[in-house]
Amino acid sequence: MGSGIAQVASQSGHNVVLCDTNQAQLDKAKASLAKIMARLVEKGKLTEEVTKGIQDRIQYSTSMNDFAGSGLVIEAIIENLEIKQKVFKTIEGIVGDDCILASNTSSLSIASIAAACEKSDRVIGIHFFNPAPLMPLVEIIPAVQTSEETTKSSRDLIDSWKKVTVLAKDTPGFIVNRVARPFYGEALRLYEEGVADFATIDWAMTELGGFRMGPYTLMDYIGNDINYIVTETVFKAFYYDPRYKPSFTQKRHSEAGWFGRKSGRGYYNYAEGATQPEPTKDTVLGNAILNRIRVLLINEAIDAVHLNIATPKDIDLAMTKGVNYPKGLLSWANEIGLAKVLADIDELYDEYREDRYRASVLLRRMVKVNQQLHFSIDFLKFLEVHFFFIFFSIRMLRIFIP
Ligand SMILES: NC(=O)c1ccc[n+]([C@@H]2O[C@H](COP(=O)([O-])OP(=O)(O)OC[C@H]3O[C@@H](n4cnc5c(N)ncnc54)[C@H](O)[C@@H]3O)[C@@H](O)[C@H]2O)c1
Repeated sequence: MGSGIAQVASQSGHNVVLCDTNQAQLDKAKASLAKIMARLVEKGKLTEEVTKGIQDRIQYSTSMNDFAGSGLVIEAIIENLEIKQKVFKTIEGIVGDDCILASNTSSLSIASIAAACEKSDRVIGIHFFNPAPLMPLVEIIPAVQTSEETTKSSRDLIDSWKKVTVLAKDTPGFIVNRVARPFYGEALRLYEEGVADFATIDWAMTELGGFRMGPYTLMDYIGNDINYIVTETVFKAFYYDPRYKPSFTQKRHSEAGWFGRKSGRGYYNYAEGATQPEPTKDTVLGNAILNRIRVLLINEAIDAVHLNIATPKDIDLAMTKGVNYPKGLLSWANEIGLAKVLADIDELYDEYREDRYRASVLLRRMVKVNQQLHFSIDFLKFLEVHFFFIFFSIRMLRIFIP
């Protein structure tokens, strides 16, 4: 992630220091950037002069002392709170007082990272999506300690890098990694229950659902080690809410070192010449898989609105621009019909009797108000705030209009 973010910053004209304790990783990052740049020249997208500038502006270093004089440091090291806190403390001793310190963490609390710093109001979450140069979304996550000035200048800066920024509450998984949990979790559950294999689940989500990547291809791309840790962190951070329970299948793949593309083996085999499994192209089964995962995703999105994690508009933007969902989940809910979404979730709950399948109270309230209701995304929030008022008004009208 770090090298991708460095590329984005350099492409926007900044001088960048890319620091890694491992020289081999720096060499890999440099070679990979050279390859990407050569391809862009070949395709006629950038001139040789421009790509040379992008590469020249990045200094590769194994010492954080080279951060001295920086205006912004974005940390993208291993997902471990203690190590991140140690690194932030060190960086604070190197940079000036006006330097913004950001973390690209996918799942850790920004408040706890900021707590390691003397000047915690300059610490913020700036969360890119993989691959950073291609994915437009960046989540901006102020901690409770973050000053408004830090939030504003961070967001303005990332906007100027032509990214789509959304503001998210410092809660586990922020927007995307919270709302997207069922994309992985329910896909794993379907496999564990023997409903379908990896390839069939991926086929259902891509061919029938229009998702660009199936859950298993995506987990292999992200890395099962990273995706598992994020799931476990989110689960613990939500006080073991069963909705976010990790899966043994992913744990075992991670323990086996089957991280995905980066290790050559994950749910699929990436060795040269390896044959890939064929999906069972049964549309009845495929639609059942798609529907089960999709209603749980919609439920998460509506629950995120309910808990003020972000605005409905930002939640739909986040899922389409950060993880390439074919539609915003709230807009999709509108299309399917809220009553149908609720009925499907309730059916799962009735069958399993697991809290994992409980419907969001906001979804239930909305269906109660009017099953046919067509709401705009902003109206969804309005409705939540004014639910009791509207309900009360309707009752009053009934009294006054015989
Ligand atoms: N992989 C993704 O899709 C993704 C997406 C968004 C955010 N993130 C977040 O970005 C961060 C990095 O993820 P990644 O997938 O790039 O991990 P990675 O393991 O591929 O890379 C981490 C790099 O950090 C280096 N490193 C470790 N400790 C260090 C230290 N003390 N000082 C300097 N360098 C150190 C390692 O050598 C390694 O090169 C994590 O916080 C992760 O949650 C990852």
